[in-house]
Amino acid sequence: MHRAVAVPRKAAEKTRDRIVRARAHPNVALVKYWGKRNWPLNLPSVGSISLTLGALHTEVTVQPTSGSQDEYWSNGRLVEGPPLEDLRRFLDLFRRLADKKEPLAIRATSNFPVAAGLASSASTFAALTVALAAFYDLDLSKEHLGTLARQGSGSACRSLWGGFVEWKRGERSDGTDSFAVPLVSPRDWPVRVAVAVTDTRPKPTGSRLGMGRSEASPFFPAWVSSQEEDLQAAREAIRAGDLERLGTVAERNCLKMHAVAFTGDPPLVYWRPATLAVLETVWQLRAEGVPAYFTIDAGPQVKVLCHAQDQATVQAALAATQGVQEVFVCHPGTGAHLVEGCT
Ligand code: DP6
Repeated sequence: MHRAVAVPRKAAEKTRDRIVRARAHPNVALVKYWGKRNWPLNLPSVGSISLTLGALHTEVTVQPTSGSQDEYWSNGRLVEGPPLEDLRRFLDLFRRLADKKEPLAIRATSNFPVAAGLASSASTFAALTVALAAFYDLDLSKEHLGTLARQGSGSACRSLWGGFVEWKRGERSDGTDSFAVPLVSPRDWPVRVAVAVTDTRPKPTGSRLGMGRSEASPFFPAWVSSQEEDLQAAREAIRAGDLERLGTVAERNCLKMHAVAFTGDPPLVYWRPATLAVLETVWQLRAEGVPAYFTIDAGPQVKVLCHAQDQATVQAALAATQGVQEVFVCHPGTGAHLVEGCT
């Protein structure tokens, strides 16, 4: 059990004039989180492994508001409805630890399209976790921060760390053993991930809803029971710096995840024609001797893992694929961190 450690410092008595800013990168899952063993706590049915994506980021500021209610601004637009309610519940976790009640203004700004399958919820909740802990002077372990970030959005606990990261499924019903741990630092294996954007519109079915529908698939039990094998293969490949082995397991794991989505109730297809066109480009690159491997999260974009020296070739091939609107190339990113201290 983690203990809630609120460290009341003099400066923390008055949060009225404070602004805290933190930044986090999204992450791409190479072995995916899909399905929950506990919905309110965001406890996953399976462990997962990701790579934090350096070129994309979300910055979050936390400050008190003069109004009587929490405010949430995303890329300059005021957010209302269910996402605001989710955010409020998340803020309450920190207010309880700090024994505070004040409403807060949260501003999140991302340098990439949000809610389009590029993991903006991971970078947003990871940055928010770091910012809120600093805002309230909470002296919490990285594991405890992970269990908090996870409750905002499961994949956010992985963005607390840089490089290759594993989120442990955990066994406990209170979730205190379900947090992320680093596997290999961003400097130790500088691979690249090219992100082929095929559609920047917000996706009609978010990952949370998609997971619920997928849990009804007759293949869902097989997805869960075969995950440990993929995790083990990915851990070994990452430790060995073996791109071919990692890419092979990542593609298979991605196709398994989408297979349970395709066969969910109701069925769910995140792909668009351009998504499949990008897979064909990746297979063609491999046939020409360029090791490149795809993965797809809960949206139509395709992320392609490759060696640093092949980044220009991969980027050009993806950009020339019909339906691809833009290609970002990401290096492994660092973990969530404060940008500005408390004022
Ligand atoms: C397909 O972390 O966005 O990207 O916990 O409900 O907020 P919630 O879901 P979220 O799901 C991410 C799903 C995924 C796979 C992954 O990132 O592992």
